Amino acid sequence: MQAESAFGEWWSANITKHPDGLGRYSNGELAYLLRTGIQKNGTLNPFMLFPNLSDEDLGAVIGYLRSDNSSTQPSPVQRKTPDYSFLAKALFKLGAIKPFPFDEEPIIAPSKSDKFAYGKYLANSVFVCAECHSESFETFNYADPESSPGFFGGGNPLEDMDFVVVPSRNLTPHPTDGIGNWNLDQFGQAVQSGLRPDGSGISNAMPRFLLLKEDEIEAIWEYLKTVPSIENEKLAKGK
Ligand code: HEC
Repeated sequence: MQAESAFGEWWSANITKHPDGLGRYSNGELAYLLRTGIQKNGTLNPFMLFPNLSDEDLGAVIGYLRSDNSSTQPSPVQRKTPDYSFLAKALFKLGAIKPFPFDEEPIIAPSKSDKFAYGKYLANSVFVCAECHSESFETFNYADPESSPGFFGGGNPLEDMDFVVVPSRNLTPHPTDGIGNWNLDQFGQAVQSGLRPDGSGISNAMPRFLLLKEDEIEAIWEYLKTVPSIENEKLAKGK
């Protein structure tokens, strides 16, 4: 898959078990890559970052990538050298894009019974809804998502399967610009089936989260109700 942003163009890596893919990573090296963005050859991949994923969930992701699932079987897709833009190169040089520290402290996911904390963890660290739904990938703060500009205010330009640019939407509780007037069922339907309350379809630039469980949707919903409300007009004016 190919993606583009102000950071230039890059290709998502071959993450099958092929020796040219993740076959060349040990589990420890893989955990390190996902937490810090540092690849086996020592270079930084700023787009392969899940710094706040709990140890247990990180283990589950690695287990899946190592499993016999058909999608992870060896595929000989060649790795390509990313073509980073001038901006990205300049930022690397200035040290503005830094690898994340590898914390020795265990990261533990909040309990499911704490809906707010669990929803925050799912929305910001696991499914990273926040990454797509804030101002831009370039300004998103992975270490502290909530301090990202335009947090959950939408407007981040994404591409659909036909490479048409579709800005992400405002998911803050604003009654008209956000989803403050929706209810939990409408939210669940939008996230899983891609249908808005008015019956219109959501672009495929937004992934379908068909496997999200009811309690996970509810937790994300509870959390989103608490994020600061943002007016689209303010976003357009650069706040
Ligand atoms: C890969 C980027 C991406 C991710 C990750 C993502 N979204 Fe979206 N989402 C979008 C885009 C783009 C749109 C706008 C689509 C359109 O306008 O048709 C959207 C639209 C939506 C909408 C419809 C809002 C409206 O007002 O119409 C909801 C609800 C939503 N996303 C919820 C979520 C949740 C919850 C998550 C995490 C579980 C999430 N999204 C993760 C890109 C993303």
